[in-house]
Amino acid sequence: MSGGFFIFVLLSKTLNRKIIIAIDGYSSCGKSTLAKQLAKKLNYVYIDSGAMYRAITLFFLRNHINWQDEDAITEALNNIQLEFHSNPSTGESEIYLNGENVEYVIRDLVVAEKVSEIAALKKVRAFAVHQQQIMGQKKGIVMDGRDIGTTVFPDAELKIFMTADNAIRVERRFKELFAKNPNITIEEVKNNLELRDYIDSHREVSPLMQAADAVVIDNTDLTPEEQLFKALQLVDEQIGQV
Ligand code: CDP
Repeated sequence: MSGGFFIFVLLSKTLNRKIIIAIDGYSSCGKSTLAKQLAKKLNYVYIDSGAMYRAITLFFLRNHINWQDEDAITEALNNIQLEFHSNPSTGESEIYLNGENVEYVIRDLVVAEKVSEIAALKKVRAFAVHQQQIMGQKKGIVMDGRDIGTTVFPDAELKIFMTADNAIRVERRFKELFAKNPNITIEEVKNNLELRDYIDSHREVSPLMQAADAVVIDNTDLTPEEQLFKALQLVDEQIGQV
């Protein structure tokens, strides 16, 4: 079957059979690129769960919240409202914190340096996971993160675990951050990715791990088109079983 015809047939199959697609993996290994590609192709909702933890972190930093203090965490979370809206000019989903578009500012290294510590807090995870589960109630959703296939949607019809060579991950993230801040060094980026991966996989509450039923995609040597095609084939297999 040609690529175009395969996608046409798949799209007609997906019309009445919406599924949940969970994409997990380490920092900067292409999860969000694949999730956005899939959502666009399938006409699904895309949710970047990492953006939620980043936005919460931004709120904590801006408001000098002491996250060793349980009451301060509870109060802070009571004052956080997160929403995703599609940007009309790019069609991309962007995150809003209490009505402010923070999609750009949450990508800063200042936020990245603290996000894993804050995302490890029990109350923060319960707050985010609850909202993520509500977003998935109607299915037809692609969500990427660290615990989507294990905790948020343990019954997701398709679970993908992304990996990529470490050096490639550092290089990709360095390019993204350098475009915004030419003072950034590759060492800073490398240290941040290593630190986050360590904290994310060693925390007590829903640590990053591959779900037993996840399919691994290593995108070190794959073009964006190749990774999308691979994932669409997995969607096709799953839709057949729904
Ligand atoms: O894009 P990148 O891979 O750098 O990370 P992200 O998806 O923006 O996530 C930022 C951080 O949020 C991660 O390093 C985790 O600490 C946390 N996170 C999490 O704990 N659980 C998720 N489902 C998603 C992100």
